[in-house]
Amino acid sequence: MSFLDELQKRKTFAIIAHPDAGKTTLTEKLLLFGGAIQEAGAVKSNKIKKHATSDFMEIEKQRGISVATSVMAFEYRDKQINILDTPGHKDFAEDTYRTLTAVDSVIVVIDVAKGVEEQTEKLVEVCRMRNTPIIVFINKLDREGKDGFDLLDEIEAKLHLHVTPLSWPAGMGQRFKGVYSLYENNLILFRAHEKQEEDNVQKITDLQDQALDQQIGSALASELRDEIHTIQSVYPEFSQEAYLKGAISPVFFGSAVNNFGVRELLDCFVDIAPQPLPRETEERIVAPEEDKFSGFVFKIHANMDPKHRDRIAFLRICSGKFERNTNYLHVRQGKNLKFSNPTAFMASKKSVIDEAYPGDIIGLYDSGNFKIGDALTEGEQLHFKGIPSFSPEQFRFVNNTDPMKTKQLNKGLDQLMDEGVAQLFTKEDNNRKIIGTVGALQFDIIQYRLKHEYGASCDYEPVHLYKACWIASKDPQAMKEFISRRKKDIARDTDNKLVFLAESQWSLKMAEENHPEIEFHFTSEF
Ligand code: G4P
Repeated sequence: MSFLDELQKRKTFAIIAHPDAGKTTLTEKLLLFGGAIQEAGAVKSNKIKKHATSDFMEIEKQRGISVATSVMAFEYRDKQINILDTPGHKDFAEDTYRTLTAVDSVIVVIDVAKGVEEQTEKLVEVCRMRNTPIIVFINKLDREGKDGFDLLDEIEAKLHLHVTPLSWPAGMGQRFKGVYSLYENNLILFRAHEKQEEDNVQKITDLQDQALDQQIGSALASELRDEIHTIQSVYPEFSQEAYLKGAISPVFFGSAVNNFGVRELLDCFVDIAPQPLPRETEERIVAPEEDKFSGFVFKIHANMDPKHRDRIAFLRICSGKFERNTNYLHVRQGKNLKFSNPTAFMASKKSVIDEAYPGDIIGLYDSGNFKIGDALTEGEQLHFKGIPSFSPEQFRFVNNTDPMKTKQLNKGLDQLMDEGVAQLFTKEDNNRKIIGTVGALQFDIIQYRLKHEYGASCDYEPVHLYKACWIASKDPQAMKEFISRRKKDIARDTDNKLVFLAESQWSLKMAEENHPEIEFHFTSEF
């Protein structure tokens, strides 16, 4: 198969959802269709079980297990589908944001009863920043839930997406009879607790057909006709072009656990979802078709077993062909590296690969060379954009409690920050270090890992901050003055970028008003 064929056959995406909406179940059904797994229950997902939320060791163990399923690949209708799993736990939201930099599209799962939930809002916001094409799957139609039109309104209002339904439910919960596909123009009948087989697909291309009344009853049939009529007159016609630009999101309805509406979703996804897309670098746009290999690291997973202190760096291939045992330039370090056992992930199996193509995710064993955002190339200086840090929500001073182990503490902190466990800011006025995280769990994880992996110990001191804002200005003099006036509120991140530590929403607002020449950003890339 030629390089271009390999490239065009790949579709790399993530499923995002608020915990419990059905992401794991849907992933599993997709893998079953692809023949990548044989039975339900085979996917150990990144899902962190509810009972473990206060026990971070248990969570780390589960995260360890989930490395194997961080990326799952399967073939379907001659396409290679790469699914990137994302942790649902909110304390690991930053991991998910970064994973989203490595995909070309997403499927958002929404629980029909719960509607749009908080975590979904945040994740979709990140997708919108990059105009990532989004398909919405409304799940659990076998249960009572919100009215379909109300849900579409909610999605438009809370997720700021323009939607157009490509399927529509006939009833829900007890009255759930099936889904009418506006994409394929047929009605798929639902038989609860039965295996949903191919012969369940009753093709009804004319909604006026009396067969519809026979199949789902006259009342529901006439309700469905009215609703489809409303959809066709109110919502825009689906356009692949608009979807690929992130301007319109098709919506599907179904029930993942019953494997219902899932094949329709997958078939449409395979038809419309983008192949590997170009990636922006500081230097230029990198097209996947280019001959020369390039890729970036978007996730690093450390092995928690002290006997195997290696890490796996997950690399998204952006252009060219990656080959095993070939020297590539690690751009940040300016040195050549080669990899003797790069891994690809096929469902729950990991295997060493000889080559990989744009859109693929490979795992590289790493002894501490990589940092999130690092690029590998055939020699060109490329710095990939779109892998920003987001302002943390929780902050604490970190104190060294064993002065004999200062070196170990600093090394440990550096490496943990490279992995993206948290962010470290060093204050300009007194060099004190502040750790910033999205969730409280990370503080325990850092303390534990510093002790067990680096032999260093630390404790924390509360610091009341609202946000860390990356600052910039076109006027160097104004920046200099701002820094000297607000020295106690200024810090640097691990890339030496300047950050303003805002104590409160109000103090940030005041700083913005009093210093209009300074830009304040909630992300490290702007
Ligand atoms: P997540 O990864 O998004 O967190 O969700 P997950 O797939 O684990 O699903 C959460 C719960 O919702 C699971 O039940 C799952 O069986 C159920 N579920 C998924 N899809 C559907 C659906 O279409 N209809 C209904 N009624 N339920 C659905 P659980 O009891 O938490 O776990 P389990 O013991 O069933 O695994």
